[in-house]
Amino acid sequence: MNTTPKWWQKAVIYEVYPRSFQDSDGDGIGDIPGLISRLDYIKSLGVDAIWLGPVFKSPQDDNGYDISDYQDIDPLFGSLADMKRLLDEANARGLKIIVDMVLNHTSDEHPWFMEAKKDRTNPKHDWYVWRDGTPDCPPNDMLSTFGGSAWQWCEDCQQFYFHQYSVKQPDLNWDNPEVRHALYDMMNWWADNGAGGFRLDVIDSVAKVPDEKITAEGPNLHKYIKEMSAAVLKGRDLVTVGECWSATPETAQLWSNPDGSELSMVFQFEHICLDQDGPFKWDLKKLPMADLKRVMRRWQTELTGKGWNSLFWENHDLPRIVSRWGDGSEKAATMLATVLFGMQGTPYIFQGQEIGMTNVKYELEDYRDIEIRNMAAERLADGYSLESVMESIHAKGRDNARTPMQWNAGENAGFTTGKPWIKVNPNYTTLNVEAQEKDPNSVLNYYRYLVQLRKEQDVIRDGDYTEIMPDWDNIFAYSRDDGNKKLTVLANFSGETVEYPAWTVDTAGEPILCNYGSWPEEGLLRPWEAVMYLK
Ligand code: NOJ
Repeated sequence: MNTTPKWWQKAVIYEVYPRSFQDSDGDGIGDIPGLISRLDYIKSLGVDAIWLGPVFKSPQDDNGYDISDYQDIDPLFGSLADMKRLLDEANARGLKIIVDMVLNHTSDEHPWFMEAKKDRTNPKHDWYVWRDGTPDCPPNDMLSTFGGSAWQWCEDCQQFYFHQYSVKQPDLNWDNPEVRHALYDMMNWWADNGAGGFRLDVIDSVAKVPDEKITAEGPNLHKYIKEMSAAVLKGRDLVTVGECWSATPETAQLWSNPDGSELSMVFQFEHICLDQDGPFKWDLKKLPMADLKRVMRRWQTELTGKGWNSLFWENHDLPRIVSRWGDGSEKAATMLATVLFGMQGTPYIFQGQEIGMTNVKYELEDYRDIEIRNMAAERLADGYSLESVMESIHAKGRDNARTPMQWNAGENAGFTTGKPWIKVNPNYTTLNVEAQEKDPNSVLNYYRYLVQLRKEQDVIRDGDYTEIMPDWDNIFAYSRDDGNKKLTVLANFSGETVEYPAWTVDTAGEPILCNYGSWPEEGLLRPWEAVMYLK
């Protein structure tokens, strides 16, 4: 590593999806006071920061990713005073709050858009992306991520506006400097008020050029990000993570340049898209292990010293990893955690991942997510069978991650005393925090150990990555070497016992961690077994 290490390179970040974390007032929706009441739990995980999902004022068309006021809190989640208390209480515990910033679009109920749509001469009109046309003929055939055209006709000003997400999420026009500076001012306000950083929602899309069908990586993108960084981040010790679906190891070197000119790190999804067949996540295919290993290896080797990556299997948009690439068992959960936590980057734990929460199989009417609902309506109208639509939702639907946090075996898993906004996963009676607190071998306590290990071992931050047994389909193994220490991670990525030629792995050194109660036999890995050696 050729730069001074930053605190966030040894940090672990915990993502809270506030709506599903802890309700305090019985309305069935998680809120800020509820989260405050769980700060000691989060602290007990050993993590350094909380990525706080959307809490700003919002019509909730996309669960808060449609913001109508960046400087106020939605009454569903509490008040501005609650938010200030959260910042104070978290900071007092040494937990930074990373605020989820949606800068690509606002709600159509944001006062900026309400003005903008009035007429073409309104001073705010140019703050959004408008194009001429006639109601039946949009400017081009670009599609919204949530289905249908990305263009919506506006009767008031007789133009189309561009929305990469729902019709209630019009895209901001970053080519207008007033827009950019209004956003920077707002971010500075949050930083002045105690925010420890920002998670930047779909930030790679802000410099779009819709006429050329460009959303991600528009020509002015990195110019704007550098400008934002200079206007907001300079002189402050903030951690910034950019959600960049388009990032490659090459562009990640710009995004996370160690000179600090852009962001701290990227949050990219190359590994996450490997089990989809074609451009749509709903079209499923089995995870090709060789591709997973290749993608992880590339990110591990091509960014060292030149940038910084996030390590994650889950977030609020993704299914539960233990169901997705494991078999739902505790062993699979801990194996997946081990593989991730031995790598270079900053790990993220999404709420519930640390207890091995699983996907759900609900009926269509039980789902709440706009993406799921729009996809189901579209595909059913297009003649897909209900069975295939449900198979996709069960495998990939975002609501898999959004079921309430499972705190205990009591009513509604201890999440709310009211009716939860989305059904609780029925396995909460056995799979919950309270039960795992009591069990030294639980997934929860395993995660705690892994978090600690990263703090203690510089080799996890700095070491070079070398893959072991690259051609093996069911074994994920690698070593990390910083010239001082060597960490070896060996994992059985399958539910079968696997024999391998022991000479292929230089495991000399101490076994320091295994997700079984006993050390593995040489040359043999039990189902979903994971082990770490250190020398
Ligand atoms: C990414 C967020 O994580 C997702 O939940 C949201 O729907 C889109 N961006 C649009 O803001």
